[in-house]
Amino acid sequence: MKIGVAKEIKPDEYRVALTPAGARELVQHGHDVTVETDAGVGSTFPDDAYRAAGARIASVDDVWSDSELLLKVKEPIEPEYGRLREGLVLFTYLHIAADEPLTRALVDSGITAVAYETVETDDRRLPLLAPMSEIAGRLAAQAGAYFLEKPQSGRGLLLSGVPGVARGSVVVIGGGMVGYNSALIAPGLGANVTILERSIDRMRQLEEILGASVSLLMSSALQIEESVADADVVIGAVLIPGAVAPKLVTREMVAGMKDGSVIADVAIDQGGCVETARPTTHSDPVYTVDGVTHYCVANMPGAVPVTSTKALTNATLPYVEAISDHGLRDAIAHDRALARGVNVLDGKVTYEAVAEAHGLAYTPLEDVLPLAAV
Ligand SMILES: NC(=O)c1ccc[n+]([C@@H]2O[C@H](COP(=O)([O-])OP(=O)(O)OC[C@H]3O[C@@H](n4cnc5c(N)ncnc54)[C@H](O)[C@@H]3O)[C@@H](O)[C@H]2O)c1
Repeated sequence: MKIGVAKEIKPDEYRVALTPAGARELVQHGHDVTVETDAGVGSTFPDDAYRAAGARIASVDDVWSDSELLLKVKEPIEPEYGRLREGLVLFTYLHIAADEPLTRALVDSGITAVAYETVETDDRRLPLLAPMSEIAGRLAAQAGAYFLEKPQSGRGLLLSGVPGVARGSVVVIGGGMVGYNSALIAPGLGANVTILERSIDRMRQLEEILGASVSLLMSSALQIEESVADADVVIGAVLIPGAVAPKLVTREMVAGMKDGSVIADVAIDQGGCVETARPTTHSDPVYTVDGVTHYCVANMPGAVPVTSTKALTNATLPYVEAISDHGLRDAIAHDRALARGVNVLDGKVTYEAVAEAHGLAYTPLEDVLPLAAV
């Protein structure tokens, strides 16, 4: 198969969809891999590294027009809409339930669009979202510690304290992939860490894994209010699949927080779980409300492209190999997780939540493609 790797053109985006190691695997499977000039530079992979792996380097026009399968990290943005076309399979993060112009552009173009974030296993895991949640969770703890520093307009507190001086406290709301990863790093920074979760089973699991390094509390409006008032850092990490994040930390709770404390609302890409949160960018990551620093970067893993690019390729490569080795139709017929990733096919919206979000007709994938194993 002809596989293209496009350079990301969104501001502050340095990741690339394939590492040279991934390119080599695909070349060894007999595929023709073409990478756009300088696509990997932001992740420290020069064109020569891809050439050495057996890939070709080409212009943006060649990569988009010659490929059968195009790999990206972020959704196409407006200047790329004209490049969408019938006969191309696009595999990338799409998040189109929140992007009507892109949904319409995909439908109108006849392209097949497979979204990393909706690839979902039968036991409801999101294997292509997980690596980015791992990274964002770990970064959130670091960001909390950093923005507590006085020169960053923070409270001026060292999370670890020192002998004779108390530690700071980190409260994580939501103990899923993001929350667990925050809770791996924050105790290492010396903080007292509490996770508020609403699933008892999940808390039992977390206790087994994390032991006594964190406290686990049932999430309720009262508990959140009390914990947040005491916290130096609050990390928002809840997710209700397919829904906008619930506003668990209200404006009043924020007003009751300590001056110079920090909120890192990782759930901002789903609207945020803090009432005062709005999306920020890596070039302007924080703002202050009622003396509380808000860090709400919507694409946190973009800050560490060397790590994120490798983690992303590790997760996507098996799916890329399945699509390239067998063709999309056979690959999705054999793998329901990958089938759930298909959002748009043959001008039809095949993902129900996306169709609902934009008032478009929903066509079950099974109506467009037979999904029985072939
Ligand atoms: N900003 C970024 O760059 C970035 C990167 C990755 C993920 N995210 C986002 O982070 C959020 C969390 O992702 P995840 O992978 O950890 O999801 P997840 O599904 O693994 O975990 C979410 C957890 O929230 C818990 N939860 C739900 N309602 C709750 C409540 N009322 N109180 C306490 N806990 C509650 C669930 O039980 C679950 O354990 C998502 O919105 C995701 O999109 C953002």
